[in-house]
Amino acid sequence: MADVSTTAPARLSWIDLPEAVRTAAESALGAEVASDVTQPGGFSPGLASRLVLGDGRQVFAKAINAARNPRSPGLYRREIEVMASLPESVPAPRLQWSYDDGDWVMLVLDDVDGAMPVQPWEPGEFSRVLAALEQLSDSLTPAPVTAMSIVDDLAENFRSWHAIAADPALLGRLDPWARTGAERLAELESGWAAAAAGDTLCHADLRADNLLLTTDAVMVVDWPYAVVGARWIDALLFLPSVAATSSIDPEQAWMSFRPARGADPDAVNAVLAAVAGDFLYQSLLPAPGNLPTLRSHQHEKGTAALDWLRTRIS
Ligand SMILES: Nc1ncnc2c1ncn2[C@@H]1O[C@H](COP(=O)(O)OP(=O)(O)OP(=O)(O)O)[C@@H](O)[C@H]1O
Ligand SMILES: [Mg+2]
Repeated sequence: MADVSTTAPARLSWIDLPEAVRTAAESALGAEVASDVTQPGGFSPGLASRLVLGDGRQVFAKAINAARNPRSPGLYRREIEVMASLPESVPAPRLQWSYDDGDWVMLVLDDVDGAMPVQPWEPGEFSRVLAALEQLSDSLTPAPVTAMSIVDDLAENFRSWHAIAADPALLGRLDPWARTGAERLAELESGWAAAAAGDTLCHADLRADNLLLTTDAVMVVDWPYAVVGARWIDALLFLPSVAATSSIDPEQAWMSFRPARGADPDAVNAVLAAVAGDFLYQSLLPAPGNLPTLRSHQHEKGTAALDWLRTRIS
C-alpha cells in the first residue's frame, strides 16, 4: 500500500486563508465560518472544505492562489464560469458565490451531503454511476452552455505519442509494448480530433473523487475542464480510472454504455490512444509543486487506458 504522505493532497484549512479572503466570504455569506472539514478527494493543494456556518447552514468551498500552484487559479476561474452557467437539470452543486482578487480565487458551492464511491469500485455503485452518465450525456446534448471545444482544448495534450516517439529518453521509460508501438500509437492518435468532435457538454475529468453519491442522486463536482465534444467522451475518459482501481473490465462496461453503441470503433481507438499517451507522457514529467499524488495517478490511468486499447487493437 502506498505511503499516505504521497497519496493525500496538501490541503489548506479555512484558517490558513488570508484574513481578507475569509472576511470577504463571511460577509457575502452573511455568517461566520464556525468549522471546516477538509475533504479527501482530488489533487488541488488549496482549501477544499465542507464549512458549517455560525447560523447552521453548510456550504462547500474551494480556494487557492498561484503560490500554492501556478495552474490552479486559472482552473478555478474556468470552473467559476462553468458553474455559473450550468442549467438546473445537471446534477451538480450550484455556485453560491465566487471571489477573485487576482491572486486568491474561491468558489462557494451548495454542500453535497454524499460520499465518494467506495474504492476499489464496487459493482453496484459502478452500475449506478454508469446509468447516471447515460442520463448526463442526454441532458448535456446539445451543450446547454458555451464551452471550449475539446478539439481546441486538448490539441497540445493529445499529441503526446508524437512527443514520446521523438524522444529516446522518454521511450526508454515505457514498457516494451508501448516502446515498440509508439510510432503506430502516434499514427492512431493523429485521428483523435475528428473522432472526438461533437455537440455534448463533457465534464472531461470524471473519476471517483469527482462524484458524490447521495441517497437519490449521483452528483458531479469539479467542472473546470468542461468542453464540448462527442457524446461518449466522458465515459471513455472515465473508464481507465475505474480499470486502474478495480477488476471491472472497461470494454465490457463500454459495450453496455448506450452512447457508446453508436460510436465508430476506429474513432474510439483514436481518442483512447490520445488519452493513454497524454497520461503516460505527463506521468514522466517532474512533479509540479504541492501536487505529490498527481504523477502516480497519471501513470496508473495511462497504463489502464493503454491496456484497454491493447485489447481493442492487437
Ligand atoms: N459541493 C460539494 N459538497 C461536498 N463535498 C464536495 C463538493 N464538491 C467537492 N466536494 C469534495 O471535495 C473534494 C475536492 O473537491 P474538488 O473535486 O472540487 O477539487 P479538487 O479535486 O481538489 O480539484 P482538482 O481536480 O483541481 O485537483 C471532492 O473530491 C469531493 O469529495
Ligand atoms: Mg476533484
